Formats: sequence, C-alpha cells, structure tokens
Amino acid sequence: MSGPDGAPARAWLCRPGFEDMLARELAGAGARVASSAVAGLVVPEPGAPAVAMPASGWAFASAELHPEAVITGDSVNALGGAVADWFADALRGEQVALPWPCVFSAVDGVPGLGRRAAAVERAFHEKLSRRVGRVARLALPDLPAGTGPAHGMFAVFTAFDSVLVSRDAWLGGQRRMADDPAAPSRSYLKVEEAYGVAGAAPEPGQLVCDLGAAPGGWTFSAAKRGARVTAVDNGPLKGGALDHALVEHLQQDAFVFRPRAGQVYDWLFCDLVEEPHHVLRGVLEPWLAERWCRRFVVNLKFGRTDANALLRELRAGDSVLGRLATGASVRHLHHDRDEFTIMGASR
Ligand SMILES: C[S@@+](CC[C@H](N)C(=O)[O-])C[C@H]1O[C@@H](n2cnc3c(N)ncnc32)[C@H](O)[C@@H]1O
Repeated sequence: MSGPDGAPARAWLCRPGFEDMLARELAGAGARVASSAVAGLVVPEPGAPAVAMPASGWAFASAELHPEAVITGDSVNALGGAVADWFADALRGEQVALPWPCVFSAVDGVPGLGRRAAAVERAFHEKLSRRVGRVARLALPDLPAGTGPAHGMFAVFTAFDSVLVSRDAWLGGQRRMADDPAAPSRSYLKVEEAYGVAGAAPEPGQLVCDLGAAPGGWTFSAAKRGARVTAVDNGPLKGGALDHALVEHLQQDAFVFRPRAGQVYDWLFCDLVEEPHHVLRGVLEPWLAERWCRRFVVNLKFGRTDANALLRELRAGDSVLGRLATGASVRHLHHDRDEFTIMGASR
C-alpha cells in the first residue's frame, strides 16, 4: 500500500516505546510494517497490502492516519506556510461551518525538533489565517474526545523539516489528562482517560464498585462526579478518597466480594495487580455473567504475559468480552504503562 505525494497509505501513532507492540498488533491483522524510524510512529512497508482495523479499533494505536502528503520546508516559515497552502488548497469546494480539529503531533525522537514544532504550528496558523481566515478561526488545537473517525487536519513531524499531513483519521480516544491535586494516585488519570473511550462516565447517584481501589484514584474520580462508591481493598484509601462521604471502604478480597442480592452496580472498576487471565476469569466473567454491573473499566497488567496473544484472546468471539459484553474496546491508554484497559457494557 502506498499513498499520494510520496506519503504512506496509512500511518499509526502510539505511545513512544510501544512501536513493537503496535507493529505486532498490525502484523497480526496482516499488515507489513516498516521498521520504525521515528518514536511513536509506525508506517507500512511500501507496497504492502491494505489492512482492516478490528471492529472495536486498534489497542496500541492512538490514531490511524490516512496521509495525503509529506510536506517539506527548510525554514520554520517555509514549512508552516507550505502546510497551510496544502491544507487551504485541499479545502477547495468543502464547506467548513463547524469547529474542526487541527492537531500537530511532535512525536518523540525527531532530532533537533524541540521548540521548532510549536514555531512551525504558529507559522501554519498565520498563513492559514491570511488565506482562509474564517476556517482558521474554527480550528481546535486538541484532539476531539472519544473514539472513531475524525476529519480536520492531523500533522505529524517525521523529521526536522518534514511533516506528514492527513485530513482523515481514526482516533483511539487516548489523551493526556489533567491531574487533580486531591487525587491520591496517578491511576486517577487512567480512569479519567477511559471515560473518553467508553463514551460515558459515572454520574451523580450512580453506584460504582471499585475492586483493588487503594489508594483510591479511581474511587476519587467516581466520587467527585457524585457517584456512590464501594471501594474494595485491604490497603488504605488516601487523599481525596479517604473519608469521602460517598465512599464505603470494604477491606475484603476482590475475588471473593459479591454484591448484595439484587444489587446491580452501574460501574465495575477493577485495577488489580494480578495476572490478566486471573482477573478475566475471577472478576470480569462472573460480574458480567451474573449481571452485577452495567458498565465496566478493567485494567489488565500484561507484565510477563504476551500482550498480543492476550489481545487476540480478548477479540475472539468466545472470549469473556465476545460472549458477555457489548461495545467493548481494548486500549493502551496514554496513561497506561505495561497494561491495557478494557471498557464496555454488560450484554
Ligand atoms: C494498582 S493498585 C490500584 C490503584 C487504584 N486504582 C487507584 O486509582 O489508586 C492495585 C490495588 O489492588 C489491591 N489488590 C490486589 N489484590 C487484591 C485482592 N485480591 N483484593 C483486593 N485488593 C487487591 C492492592 O492492595 C492495590 O491497592
């Protein structure tokens, strides 16, 4: 597969350091990928066949881009101006009445890029404002929330003087989240990010069961939204989760804890440092089979487990997700380390 204007037909973005994981996920779907020259960016081998994305999206890719050109420029103004000219020309005949994402990604590992990326972006906006001011005013610099197709402009620096540009992308929903000083752990950021992929978050009055809750980042996230939380962990809650009026802390084993008869939680949260199959069989399977929860966010630490083998298992029709869940997604979130997060609803 190859694209127009010297661009690859597809390009995938991921968390730097996880290119090999993404390459293996893509290879499992039949893609042949070139060795990654830029951290956080994976492209297909020239002439490799097109590859179909799994119905629920890639796990390790934060975006699949449909590149249309590779634009070069030997100065900040030349490069920013050339990208603006390309985009303004590409817009011909298109009505732009709504805000649109205009996202420049400076993937790590481009030598010497540093602050130049922001300067190129400024030069782009100055030129775009001169050419199509009304369209330029509707540009949004952040990735839109949620997962799925997006139309706008997605620019990725592939070298000091070159940018890969796409107007169409599939977005996995991964985003850097803002911390809250009252949150007792960095894990808080993971569940906040997961809501964007799930397309929902706990609401006032909803019931949440958080298995492996301590020190309480996920519990705090739900309670600050007004949900009532049963936090199950032998360890202590801290920070904003400690003594929160909406939190009941139970010092019990998460694998043994059962809801009261007839009790249905709106959300199951589970962030146990345990072998993933143990979590899937010992927690997710009974919770979905018995319909003890409506929605779930479960983090699986792949550690020494083969992450791609686990992904294939999860995507199989006879997996716990295939049999018992609906609308399930598996994502390597921006805030995940050697783990991924699965989100979905009970069938
Ligand atoms: C990664 S931490 C959870 C972090 C939490 N999500 C947060 O946001 O602060 C994992 C927790 O799982 C708990 N845990 C591990 N095995 C458990 C079990 N069988 N039952 C209950 N808690 C368990 C540990 O005590 C630990 O507090």
